Amino acid sequence: MGNFFPRWTNWLPLKLAVGVAFIAFGVSVGVAYYFTPKYTRVGYEPTQPVPFSHKIHAGQLGLDCRYCHSFVENSSHANVPTNQTCFNCHGPGKGNIKSASPKLELVVKAHETKQPIPWVKVHKAPDYVYFNHSAHLNRGISCQSCHGQVNEMEIVKHAEPQSMGWCLDCHRNPEQKLRPLDQITNLNYKPEQLDRASFYQSLIAKGVKAGEIAETIQEGGKAASVEELVSLASLTFGKQVTQLEVGSQLKKHWQVQPPENCTSCHR
Ligand code: HEC
Ligand code: HEC
Ligand code: HEC
Ligand code: HEC
Ligand code: HEC
Repeated sequence: MGNFFPRWTNWLPLKLAVGVAFIAFGVSVGVAYYFTPKYTRVGYEPTQPVPFSHKIHAGQLGLDCRYCHSFVENSSHANVPTNQTCFNCHGPGKGNIKSASPKLELVVKAHETKQPIPWVKVHKAPDYVYFNHSAHLNRGISCQSCHGQVNEMEIVKHAEPQSMGWCLDCHRNPEQKLRPLDQITNLNYKPEQLDRASFYQSLIAKGVKAGEIAETIQEGGKAASVEELVSLASLTFGKQVTQLEVGSQLKKHWQVQPPENCTSCHR
């Protein structure tokens, strides 16, 4: 008896299996994208053992985030400071600032018992997500984009959803968030505070050609000097520096390309 089924049908079960797997995969991605809790975490604000205020320390006193979160730029993990950092100012015999205050009772006690203060975690990515702080900070993303206006918070709260869709929204359009590296921990940064001429000068100082900068300002744009760049940008973006103006230059000339493939975040 001849072959009842034509030859290609040998592959049919495999093709079907692959097809089904693809559909299942697509659906789960869709579900993950649309139904991960986008808003449920926003506002989460646990009570901390010590009423430590970022508004006082980072806002009024103007301490840089890295004074306390000292590994954030060099490590995947952002550390919470050890007691020793607090003792620099509140420790007995040192700064001694307010050390009699009841609000500092636990800090003073920590000095005697040498036990860490049991801070409650606010942000936590699931274990199956790979996240790295330094990879973002060294590429022009500010704490502000992911944690909100911490320098104005009495108690740290979850300001952004930190869901998969949220990560991807920025990965697709990083130009809406990129800023110069020296502004990463300046939570009050606004692009319109930048001096346009200095911004373009800084790109040229890094070896970018004026012609390439002009092309990024406007397709077909031409310029040979900082002055010409400034006047081209003023025509295109208006009197003040805008986010898109800064972000599109940094994205192009730093070659920023945030990953969108599954395995970069799920390793
Ligand atoms: C004087 C030290 C100090 C400075 C300066 C400081 N922080 Fe903190 N930060 C802490 C301590 C202590 C905690 C843990 C207690 C809490 O959540 O308030 C913390 C917690 C946080 C958290 C929440 C961590 C979690 O559990 O998810 C974020 C986000 C944060 N800080 C961001 C910042 C940013 C952004 C800046 C700069 C604008 C900054 N911090 C400056 C001491 C500091
Ligand atoms: C650079 C110095 C400095 C460091 C470091 C510092 N503080 Fe403070 N802290 C101050 C100053 C200044 C005040 C405001 C005092 C005032 O209100 O007059 C203050 C106020 C406080 C208060 C409120 C006290 C009250 O009675 O109103 C608490 C609580 C506190 N700090 C906790 C901490 C903790 C916890 C750390 C470590 C994570 C820390 N501080 C690190 C300088 C510092
Ligand atoms: C691109 C987004 C992003 C940026 C930028 C960012 N963070 Fe975070 N941060 C996160 C995420 C996501 C987590 C949760 C990470 C985890 O659980 O592993 C987190 C966690 C933290 C924690 C808690 C760490 C712990 O284990 O308790 C601190 C503190 C913190 N960030 C501080 C900062 C500071 C300070 C900056 C700026 C200098 C900053 N972050 C910039 C997204 C960001
Ligand atoms: C506000 C913008 C922004 C947000 C939000 C953001 N990212 Fe990124 N991400 C970037 C940029 C910019 C880069 C750097 C790309 C490059 O170096 O070319 C990056 C790079 C990465 C990388 C590759 C570098 C590395 O560490 O291997 C991973 C992984 C990553 N992000 C994961 C995440 C995850 C997970 C989240 C959400 C919890 C997140 N990102 C949220 C902007 C963002
Ligand atoms: C930029 C980083 C990033 C990329 C790229 C990414 N994910 Fe995710 N994914 C996350 C984060 C962050 C979460 C955790 C969301 C949360 O906790 O709300 C997550 C959660 C998930 C979940 C669990 C959903 C749930 O309901 O808990 C699945 C499934 C998933 N991702 C699949 C994928 C697949 C498939 C891809 C590739 C198409 C992908 N992810 C690409 C960051 C990423």
